[in-house]
Amino acid sequence: MTTPHVPDFPPPLEVFGRHRSIRHFLPEPLAPGHLEWIIQAGRRAPTDAQGHMYSVLRITDPALRDELATLCGDQQHIRDAAEFLVHCLDVHRLRRLVEHRGGEWGMGPRIALLYGTSDATMVAENMMLAAEMLGYGTCYIGGVQNNTDVIAQLLALPQGVLPLYGLCIGVPDPARIPGLRPRVPQELCFFENRYPEEFTPEELESAYQAMGGKRDWYETLGRYFAAGGVMARREPVMARAWRQQGLEPRDPASQEPDHAL
Ligand SMILES: Cc1cc2nc3c(=O)[nH]c(=O)nc-3n(C[C@H](O)[C@H](O)[C@H](O)COP(=O)(O)O)c2cc1C
Repeated sequence: MTTPHVPDFPPPLEVFGRHRSIRHFLPEPLAPGHLEWIIQAGRRAPTDAQGHMYSVLRITDPALRDELATLCGDQQHIRDAAEFLVHCLDVHRLRRLVEHRGGEWGMGPRIALLYGTSDATMVAENMMLAAEMLGYGTCYIGGVQNNTDVIAQLLALPQGVLPLYGLCIGVPDPARIPGLRPRVPQELCFFENRYPEEFTPEELESAYQAMGGKRDWYETLGRYFAAGGVMARREPVMARAWRQQGLEPRDPASQEPDHAL
């Protein structure tokens, strides 16, 4: 694979130029105090409307970690990482807070899904960056979405809490650090004032070129996003999980109250 062009970031931003997902870890813990810093970095993330619509579960029980690794597509790096965290959107605590002071809960599932996902994602990304700044390797685990409903039950998540993805953090095995993965060309993602009318065939081809050869990335996209791919298989899982966790959107015209949310 060709090495992608990554700008030479100035020192405070170097962490962005170094990022790659790590899937091979040494059997070593994080240095004392480092997890606490990583957590504090997560807690400092901005939060929409001061809602703090996230929760993070640290998985320290080895049997539970093993079961989660299996449910996430049997990903060994979940078992091997020093830390494995499950990041969730969470409007359960928020609802409890509003009702605790006598307020009537007014948030529906659509807004809960959007705001909770953005809050939880900002926390996760702050934590990932903090861990990488401290020299650790990280890997997000969207494999959680293979079995979101089962995992929600396993983690005793109440209504209004939905697991989004996991985050592995650990000491990278220096012998197995991958090269930088390419990115889609900037011109296809960053625009000025207006979205382009249409992507030309040449522009689309340029994305395949940048991503390291037409066939490889096309195969990856097909495996994940084409009919019958990973994402299509996750759709019914997500429908079950949203229903189970009280986050299933209703027809806005319906007189029925939103599900348990
Ligand atoms: C939300 C999310 C879910 C992901 N899920 C997985 C996963 O389940 N397993 C895995 O090994 N990598 C996972 N990744 C890592 C991506 O494969 C990786 O970020 C992508 O290939 C780009 O490579 P890079 O991070 O090395 O630049 C995930 C990344 C994100 C952002």
